[in-house]
Amino acid sequence: MADLFTPYKMGKFNLSHRVVLAPMTRCRALNGIPQPALAEYYTQRATPGGFLITEGTMISDTAGGFPHVPGIFNEEQVRAWKKIVDAVHSKGSVIFCQLWHVGRASHQVYQPHGAAPISSTGVPISKRWRILMPDGSHGIYPKPRVLKTLEILEVVEHYRQAAINAIEAGFDGIEIHGAHGYLIDQFLKDGINDRTDEYGGSIENRCRFLMQVVKAVVQAIGADRVGVRMSPAIDHLDAMDSDPLHLGLAVIERLNKLQEESCSSLTYLHVTQPRYTAYGQTESSRQGNEDEEARFMRAWKRAYQGTFICSGGFTRELGMKAVIDGDADLVSYGRLFISNPDLVHRLKVNAPLSKYNRKTFYTQDPVVGYTDYPFLGQTLVSRL
Ligand SMILES: Cc1cc2nc3c(=O)[nH]c(=O)nc-3n(C[C@H](O)[C@H](O)[C@H](O)COP(=O)(O)O)c2cc1C
Repeated sequence: MADLFTPYKMGKFNLSHRVVLAPMTRCRALNGIPQPALAEYYTQRATPGGFLITEGTMISDTAGGFPHVPGIFNEEQVRAWKKIVDAVHSKGSVIFCQLWHVGRASHQVYQPHGAAPISSTGVPISKRWRILMPDGSHGIYPKPRVLKTLEILEVVEHYRQAAINAIEAGFDGIEIHGAHGYLIDQFLKDGINDRTDEYGGSIENRCRFLMQVVKAVVQAIGADRVGVRMSPAIDHLDAMDSDPLHLGLAVIERLNKLQEESCSSLTYLHVTQPRYTAYGQTESSRQGNEDEEARFMRAWKRAYQGTFICSGGFTRELGMKAVIDGDADLVSYGRLFISNPDLVHRLKVNAPLSKYNRKTFYTQDPVVGYTDYPFLGQTLVSRL
């Protein structure tokens, strides 16, 4: 019977265990350029045969909505990522770059020439949520500009080019961030998407943008280097859908069809469940109902023809159970991986885990709260 420490073949990648580093924005890539600190952070978390997914990485200059997140749309960024990828590879891990466009979850300060952020809709994210500003304060999300129908393909092209850039930087593949209320999710969810063109209304239309992105990226770099992330049941940043179960199934049906038609498999599907309450500042009103979550995840896992990664509130026990019960092939860990660089080892030997400090999730210090969490047997060196 497989558990978290049973090797797994994920497409062409031979993994030695099933504990994945979840993508996490850490705001240490000054002015969009990955810094040496990122190499330290990722190599600390790399293991032979392990699998790491980078933080959300901007596909274009309109894609960002947090301070100092990395990009992968110009040469300087690609060169900087290459050093990080090489360092991770030298420790034997596979690493994918998460491609991100935040859509309306941005602010004029993060946009070229102070323009309004773009979205599927002209309705701003409600005041229940706050955006992290460059000075560390929290602001209100502005009114976005509705993407014109013809502009949408330009954004698809940005994903395609970013995927090519990621491969040039040496990444083993990319993950399309279709989750958590960001641009792709702003098209998927009927609680946000109020379009009347071929990108709005029916489920077919709402899935169109995601599928165009997937197809463009697959054509450019091959399906076996592409993962997709979705979170149909998460209302982060007002991303509500009236029927999350069927939305998830609709995406899966289209991914399966694409795989059949192209006779090639995507690397994986990565699903976040509502048990996740990661953002701390303004948390979801919907904390998730464990039974409902389990029902949705099982239905999606059963429907998807390929590797299925689960994320959201997993402990050692829950991760073991998910794999043993066949509810997940791999489990991604977020917050516990922030505070335990050697999480894989700790989970393996069932060692105690260090606690994470939310206050340093999104700060710019290259060490404090970033690379100074202790390995087992070490004591904290630099943090007060
Ligand atoms: C600080 C922080 C930053 C995050 N940034 C991203 C991100 O860039 N992309 C993404 O898809 N998810 C992001 N997430 C969500 C995580 O990938 C993960 O799904 C979530 O933390 C739930 O897993 P956990 O309960 O193991 O922390 C972030 C979470 C945290 C805590």
